[in-house]
Amino acid sequence: MTMNSDQAFVANDKLMLQARGIEKTFTLHQQGGARIAALSGVSLDVERGECVVLAGASGAGKSTLLRCMYGNYLATRGTIAIRDDSRASRHVMLTEAAPHEIIRLRNTTMGYVSQFLRAIPRVTSLDLVAEPLVSRGVNEDEARERASALLERLNVPRRLWTLAPATFSGGEQQRVNIARGLIAAHPLLLLDEPTASLDGENRDVVADLIVEARERGAAIVGIFHDEDTRERVATRIVRLESAAATVEPAVQTDSGVLQTC
Ligand SMILES: Nc1ncnc2c1ncn2[C@@H]1O[C@H](COP(=O)(O)OP(=O)(O)OP(=O)(O)O)[C@@H](O)[C@H]1O
Ligand SMILES: [Mg+2]
Repeated sequence: MTMNSDQAFVANDKLMLQARGIEKTFTLHQQGGARIAALSGVSLDVERGECVVLAGASGAGKSTLLRCMYGNYLATRGTIAIRDDSRASRHVMLTEAAPHEIIRLRNTTMGYVSQFLRAIPRVTSLDLVAEPLVSRGVNEDEARERASALLERLNVPRRLWTLAPATFSGGEQQRVNIARGLIAAHPLLLLDEPTASLDGENRDVVADLIVEARERGAAIVGIFHDEDTRERVATRIVRLESAAATVEPAVQTDSGVLQTC
């Protein structure tokens, strides 16, 4: 007998995320309604202290799964539940949650590091990194102090701290992005290739930070192409099979033109 989410989160206080039967199909309305199957039935439990690395070919749906887990994409089918100890059921069903509820979960529970930084014009890198702490109620001086320590550790030159990161190099932006994603010590971290544009030394720093997060009990789901980093951080590897094999090969468009995708 399988446990439903209610029982699972109450029975196991290490469980942070439970995904069941996740399917995601994109419909490209601008391109004749072509449909792309990105995920076809992924189920996964992630507990505190685990770092689950998503593996699989390019296009297998790794980033799509992370975005579904962060509530950026709504799964076409299936459920994702996230721990929320403020509820009797000890979880929120993300796939049914209202936008304000998803925002609250991002504030309290889920940290996400995308491959690229979405720089906000005129906000300094120091403030960008401090912001997740400030929005959790930490006072600004302390938040800036902790942001400085993290930027220092990630070898972001001090002269860049008071500048907006829009003009930074790819690796500098990525380190600001990682600092912003890790500073609030969220209990669930979703990391999409956080080391992709870093040199070896900085990759090692990031791997250390991820291992520290795992050891303090964070549940982590990440994508790492670099074999060394993967070996250092992973407690488990989950391979996604490409659902793209099920791409519908041709669709009849409204104009009657047969289009291949
Ligand atoms: N927003 C979107 N709209 C349409 N199709 C998308 C969208 N995002 C992803 N896809 C499609 O879904 C499939 C999976 O993409 P995804 O980015 O999740 O792959 P990935 O495993 O992260 O690949 P990579 O290792 O190259 O980053 C691809 O075929 C991609 O074209
Ligand atoms: Mg990807």
